Amino acid sequence: MTYLETAANFYSEVAQTPQIGLCCVQSTSLQLPGLKIPRKMREMNYGCGTTVHPTELSNQPTVLYIGVGGGLEALQFAYFSRRPGAIIAIDPVAEMREAAKSNLEIAVPENPWFDTSFVEIRAGDAFNLPVADASVDIVAQNCLFNIFEPEDLNRALTEAYRVLKPGGRLQMSDPISTCRIPSHLQQDERLRAMCLSGALTYEEYIQKIINVGFGQVEIRARRPYRLLNAQTYNLSEHLLLESLDSVSFKVPIPSDGACVFTGKTAIYAGADNYFDDGDGHILQPGLPLSVCDKTAAKFAKNMSEQIMVTDSTWHYDGGGCC
Ligand SMILES: C[S@@+](CC[C@H](N)C(=O)[O-])C[C@H]1O[C@@H](n2cnc3c(N)ncnc32)[C@H](O)[C@@H]1O
Repeated sequence: MTYLETAANFYSEVAQTPQIGLCCVQSTSLQLPGLKIPRKMREMNYGCGTTVHPTELSNQPTVLYIGVGGGLEALQFAYFSRRPGAIIAIDPVAEMREAAKSNLEIAVPENPWFDTSFVEIRAGDAFNLPVADASVDIVAQNCLFNIFEPEDLNRALTEAYRVLKPGGRLQMSDPISTCRIPSHLQQDERLRAMCLSGALTYEEYIQKIINVGFGQVEIRARRPYRLLNAQTYNLSEHLLLESLDSVSFKVPIPSDGACVFTGKTAIYAGADNYFDDGDGHILQPGLPLSVCDKTAAKFAKNMSEQIMVTDSTWHYDGGGCC
């Protein structure tokens, strides 16, 4: 049996018997007027963060959702794209598709705005997305890509890139690891399926996104996710996993490298009325300007007496330099 088959079997189990708290992190759940999440759907929240960013979902985007789970985020996306077929949700596990379909039907009476036709559930997997090139505005996946081995992750990211329209967004939430996960845990297929041992480090994860062509990556949240206890997991020390919410844009990679926004700002502390770096960044005295990490590093290296660069907040939500 391959690790992907082990994962499919695991998700078949948890589709039939919900495992409360499987992947979730403590966070405030999305509260929107008129949106009611059925209890069973909440119990099947197998995501480690969120891929739904309410302030950026205008114009009823077409969303391809990979790994539907209990349908929670498909319902949340449908809230913003209220039209038939706007959300295409795929999953290779028949029991999971059945569970999502049933949960979405349960949602209808509590959500007068919702019609099940808004979410089209299809059989499919992350490596062979059943949609045309450049056909969707958003691809979303929550707590799935981390279970893939590195080469499979490359394939999944390449597929996501293929189906996005130019300028489209890959919205993901995944566990990442604060250091390399030892191979005895990486090879444990059940732990991997449970989103506990496949995670890459932050640097590896971001580099893989850039490697397939995404020119801009924004970090929306970074939180503690799970602690792998040294004794239980046979480690030399405890290992902290984090959850990372990101949005990656299908835009060309600038000649000096991709822009990654982690919440850093640059603040001009000089005596002039403004500072212009000649590269699109105009700083007003005393006013923070969001900058990508590349620009932040440039300022910190060359301009540290005149420009203060603040730390990553890991909660970037707009503005920018590029
Ligand atoms: C951790 S759950 C996340 C579910 C959902 N995204 C959520 O946030 O609740 C992973 C989901 O991916 C599905 N899945 C497993 N292997 C997959 C694959 N190769 N391609 C697409 N989906 C897959 C599982 O059946 C399951 O629904």
